[in-house]
Amino acid sequence: MELLPLLNHPGWFCCCLGLALILRLQRRKSWDPRNCHVSLAGKTAIVTGANTGIGKCVAMDLARRKARVILACRSRGRGQKALEEIRSQTGNKEVLLELLDTSSMASVRAFAERILQQEKHLDILINNAGASGLPYSMTAEGLENTFATNHLGPFLLSNLLTGLMSKSAPSRIVFVSSFNHKKGEIHLGHLRGQNIQGVRPDYPYNCSKLMNIMCANEMARRLHGSGVTVTSVDPGIVVTEAIRNYGIFIRLIFNLIGFFFFRTPQQGAVSSLFCAVSEEAEGLTGKYIDCDCQLVLPSAGAQDRPVSRKLWEASEEAVGLATYSPK
Ligand SMILES: *[C@@H]1O[C@H](CO)[C@@H](O)[C@H](O)[C@H]1NC(C)=O
Repeated sequence: MELLPLLNHPGWFCCCLGLALILRLQRRKSWDPRNCHVSLAGKTAIVTGANTGIGKCVAMDLARRKARVILACRSRGRGQKALEEIRSQTGNKEVLLELLDTSSMASVRAFAERILQQEKHLDILINNAGASGLPYSMTAEGLENTFATNHLGPFLLSNLLTGLMSKSAPSRIVFVSSFNHKKGEIHLGHLRGQNIQGVRPDYPYNCSKLMNIMCANEMARRLHGSGVTVTSVDPGIVVTEAIRNYGIFIRLIFNLIGFFFFRTPQQGAVSSLFCAVSEEAEGLTGKYIDCDCQLVLPSAGAQDRPVSRKLWEASEEAVGLATYSPK
């Protein structure tokens, strides 16, 4: 039998399309922020990396719920643009911009000091800022760039703010991790740039996402009983806004593929919002939530408590937390 003419038959195309559609519709029904009517009036939230993508969508939702939302962004220009967009779309004037570069521990400390001075309480902290595909490089503080940006910065920030958050209890901290953590490994030397020269650019990213989960779980154990809960989430594979810059045809194709396989930033924001605002996640701590808002176990490595404790101590040492005393 001739196979080639058979494979060329349009029936195959329809068959594949049908199959993809079925797979798409099979996607588990997730918690939906549009059906959640929790108000955050009188609450204060910080979202790092809020100028674009998931961070902006999370901030937008929190602002709609009438929270006072602090956008923590690296660039004043891009942060200001997001701030204006969120204010005009939600009508919430209590949206503020504070500069924060999570790759710099000095910037994290300065940011935290401003927050501790300005804010009477802090109810939600979303550690969303992160970088992927950064080339191997060292920061001025002697830390590796991806690990500093994605793990050490959020680690230090959360530690500096937990005092205020426990005074504001119940309060929630969310770390935006990724399913990529499954391919990550823990080598404490990575924090200072050891053994990552010449690796693929997604390797440090994957490792830092593993650290996010371990750090969240260790923090949850340390804050047990304080009323501060700590969770980590997978946002799913998200189509970034970068495609906005392409022509209509490319965008169309991307959106078509995206409909089947990827998530929009709005959909990517759902797992973070579930942990930060939902009634279902009240009291949920030391847990990992997947992109369908389901409680799942992270990789075996991520559940290793002794290694998590070692990572915590090495991180304290790397950011100078043990010796740091606020002015
Ligand atoms: C990083 O994780 C992704 C997703 O699991 C995987 O496809 C990729 O191969 C990983 N990269 C490395 C260097 O392990």
